[in-house]
Amino acid sequence: GRVAVLLGGTGSERAVSLESGRNVLEALRARGVDAQPVDGIAALAEALVARRHDRVFNVLHGQHGGGEDGVVQGLMDALGVPYTGSGVLGSALSMDKIRTKQVWLSLALPTPAYVRLARGGDVHAAARALGLPVIVKPSQEGSSVGVSRVFDDAGLEDAVQLAARYPGELLVERMVVGDELTVGILDTGDGLRALPSIRIVPKGAWYDYDAKYVSDETQYLCPGLDGDDERRIGELALAAFVAAGCSGWGRVDIMRDRNSGDFQLLEVNTAPGMTSHSLVPKAAGQIGIGFQDLCWRVLEQTL
Ligand code: DAL
Ligand code: MG
Repeated sequence: GRVAVLLGGTGSERAVSLESGRNVLEALRARGVDAQPVDGIAALAEALVARRHDRVFNVLHGQHGGGEDGVVQGLMDALGVPYTGSGVLGSALSMDKIRTKQVWLSLALPTPAYVRLARGGDVHAAARALGLPVIVKPSQEGSSVGVSRVFDDAGLEDAVQLAARYPGELLVERMVVGDELTVGILDTGDGLRALPSIRIVPKGAWYDYDAKYVSDETQYLCPGLDGDDERRIGELALAAFVAAGCSGWGRVDIMRDRNSGDFQLLEVNTAPGMTSHSLVPKAAGQIGIGFQDLCWRVLEQTL
């Protein structure tokens, strides 16, 4: 049957999603799949009501018109159209970094200490409670959009102003100083498995939007860890993914504290990037699952 590749949308990650979608389309077509791009939720609703597609490959990143917050999953459920990745609950929860942390904490899964900041809330009090440095971010964005690292009181107001440009609540989080790691999760037909971890070594201070999509100097080490550490991070990522109610495929972002060596969970991405710079394709490639094969395996979740 015909596959809709859901991409684009109106959110802050539109450009990223268009590239993810272009790559997925090309890969599916190379495998003989009849796949068409569909830009945004309104276009998808119209196409699905008209029965133009039998299934949906979702690489529409983000919330509020994006495909990662459970809204479009509800539409597809209601219309009985199968789709890749997590359902309503896992998508909605994972799009909200604050509630995701609350679930993890309730299960004793490690995540950095945080304060939920209401609009107009006291960021200085939040920073005092956590201790500097902190990260200030919109609770419901992706690709590091609106995120600042803050090392002194003077930087707090600017960080809040930047994060407040995006919808939803703000999250102030204790900054973990150490390695940036990520673990892709893929349902390979016989259950969920963690792909090899990737350790990200940005050229600049941290893995921001530019380091993610623009720079060719960001280094990716895969597997990111050795032996027992690699096994432990895979188990933690899987537990975090399942705890958040996720399924199909995704990616769990994790910091490793330089001093204690402890892992700290940051968030789950339920429609991870599939750009030429993106991480899940790199991790899958490490175990011999090429890009076309990865797309095929994700699509198989709808069969
Ligand atoms: N939010 C971007 C697309 C990612 O996590 O890959
Ligand atoms: Mg994200």
